[in-house]
Amino acid sequence: MILTTNKDQLSAQIKDWKKNGQRIGFVPTMGALHDGHLSLCETAAKNADKLVMSIFVNPTQFAPHEDLDSYPRTLERDIENLNNQGIIDLVYAPEQADIYPDGADSAIKAGPAAQGLESDFRPHFFDGVVNVVYRLFTQVNPDIAVFGEKDFQQLQVIEEMVADQAMDINIIPGAIIRDDHGLALSSRNAYLTADELETARMLNQIIYSVAHGISEGVDPDEACKNAAEMLLKAGFDKVDYIAYHPTWSRILAAAWLGKTRLIDNCALPEQD
Ligand code: PAF
Repeated sequence: MILTTNKDQLSAQIKDWKKNGQRIGFVPTMGALHDGHLSLCETAAKNADKLVMSIFVNPTQFAPHEDLDSYPRTLERDIENLNNQGIIDLVYAPEQADIYPDGADSAIKAGPAAQGLESDFRPHFFDGVVNVVYRLFTQVNPDIAVFGEKDFQQLQVIEEMVADQAMDINIIPGAIIRDDHGLALSSRNAYLTADELETARMLNQIIYSVAHGISEGVDPDEACKNAAEMLLKAGFDKVDYIAYHPTWSRILAAAWLGKTRLIDNCALPEQD
């Protein structure tokens, strides 16, 4: 596995692979890798010949009061894990100046899919995400890229950006990977205390019960309101949102346990 922090080395290697007709798969990450990331790599491997992963904690998607400074940075361990897995061909771990040589402003703004939900609570977030993903796409020049469904709204925003910018990149969704109790894997789960972890595991159960209820005819607003109350009763400190999105046919939620903000979502069960 090649590890580089240098964008010229990255693009020379990509050109070389492309010259030989190899399709490039890309998995952008902020590191602190877990089995969810590994699953994204496996999805990418089914759709490409050579796999590139970026590891870059992107400052522009954090607001000043958020967890940029404390976000887990585990590069050495990540590299060791990836070497053991043997699935990634190249890890690109750029410096901030490689991604933002001209400062962090971006002409690219997130489109309509960014409206509501996350943006109501993290208004800066999707502009920061499209800013960095557009720049990474330009440098990596992949044929396909995989984004996890755990950040379902992010996935929609990226698909929209690729279409708007007429980028020839196929965006492939990666399934949510859950622990034995159904908790969606996330780098931020590392912040949870043992007690919080127990409570966190209620989130998926509650959104699944809302999804079932709505599919059986319960009023969505009523179901979501009750679910927010259930989350608070279960021990969550604050619920940013729990909402039904009819176009995406999903329940999406974000809630706080102490200092940790968790998000999750699930599809409504298929109707016969
Ligand atoms: O989902 C993430 O880890 C990040 O938002 C991404 C897509 C790597 C951009 O920094």
